[in-house]
Amino acid sequence: MSIITPHGGELVDRLIPPEERQEARRRARDLTPVHLNRRQISDLELIGIGAMSPLDGFMGQADYKRVVDEARLASGLPWSIPVTLAVRETEAASARVGEEISLVDDHGDLLGLLELREKLSYDKKREAQEVYRTTEEAHPGVRVLYAQGDVLLAGPIRLLEPPDDQEYGPYHLTPAETRQAFNNQGWRTVVGFQTRNPVHRAHEYIQKCALEVVDGLLLHPLVGETKQDDIPAETRLRCYEVLLEGYYPKDRVILAVLPAAMRYAGPREAIFHALIRKNYGCTHFIVGRDHAGVGNYYGTFDAHLIFRDFAQEELGITPLFFDHAFYCRSCQGMATTKTCPHGPQERVSLSGTKVREMLHRIELPPSEYTRQEVAEVLLQWANTDQYRI
Ligand code: ADX
Repeated sequence: MSIITPHGGELVDRLIPPEERQEARRRARDLTPVHLNRRQISDLELIGIGAMSPLDGFMGQADYKRVVDEARLASGLPWSIPVTLAVRETEAASARVGEEISLVDDHGDLLGLLELREKLSYDKKREAQEVYRTTEEAHPGVRVLYAQGDVLLAGPIRLLEPPDDQEYGPYHLTPAETRQAFNNQGWRTVVGFQTRNPVHRAHEYIQKCALEVVDGLLLHPLVGETKQDDIPAETRLRCYEVLLEGYYPKDRVILAVLPAAMRYAGPREAIFHALIRKNYGCTHFIVGRDHAGVGNYYGTFDAHLIFRDFAQEELGITPLFFDHAFYCRSCQGMATTKTCPHGPQERVSLSGTKVREMLHRIELPPSEYTRQEVAEVLLQWANTDQYRI
């Protein structure tokens, strides 16, 4: 039994089978190499394991243009974020259209292969405006876009090996594996939760509200590249471990990592995050306040509104929208602006920046904001010398 059809109909699998890997390595020695950075490696991996189905490679002109302009692939299927391989002109010059190229990391180790179908130039300002809704370089997603290469290499990829299990151990599940796990649990409906921040009470509240109406919960923290001041993935995972230990029913929750880079593209990224979780087998997806937002670039509920641009059938996955959640002293519990009649003075809700400042002063955030077990993990991290603001 498969819970939900992957986006576009089938789960893409671009992994080179183990018996062909040696031959691929041998062949790659004669191919032009292209060096991938951390975020490109994330994209390669996500395409390879089917998390970005129906994409089977890096986008060419037709898909790229329509994604930027209309948040759709050339086929008309919803897709809101360009997934491209941007390289410098010098590197692009040595790659020939029609040939296979090798995709390598910093050390020159082979990661995958690309059948080069197109080389294209593109308009970064236009992409910034349409996808990020701003052309300001201060936006962390736009900054990355402006800094990347000027030529896009496009074509289907093949991934040499499955993701490295060493780093996240049992939490590194592919879409095929989460689908299998959901089946094993007998879940027919599963809600996915995207996050890049340490878990706090508002997160817990909306996760549990959602879990009241579906069979299972996929806690799916993003562990790819994030901006400098975001809290590292290992610490965030540790927060989840202590929280799950004490406060979640074990047979209703699966914790796994999403090896994607954060774009901070707000509404566009909310659609992208939902479609990716659909590929992982989720039937529902949580979209709270300012989902994937940064600074004041997006309205608090822009990431809800964008879902109106698509028909429910074409997205497939059902968004569950949540208003701003907080602890209310008068209600003596968690609530949202939708369910609490009291004023803002009664609410305990802190920004990520405020929390980082408290940690910096080695101060525990209040228990109305975050559970003490989680706060202690954060404080422990803040105490180590890796902590810099
Ligand atoms: S995000 O960049 O991944 O969106 P974060 O990890 O803070 O950042 O949020 C994860 C999810 O929880 C998002 O859907 C976000 O909208 C939602 N969320 C975070 N804080 C709140 C809150 N106080 N009230 C309602 N939703 C929230």
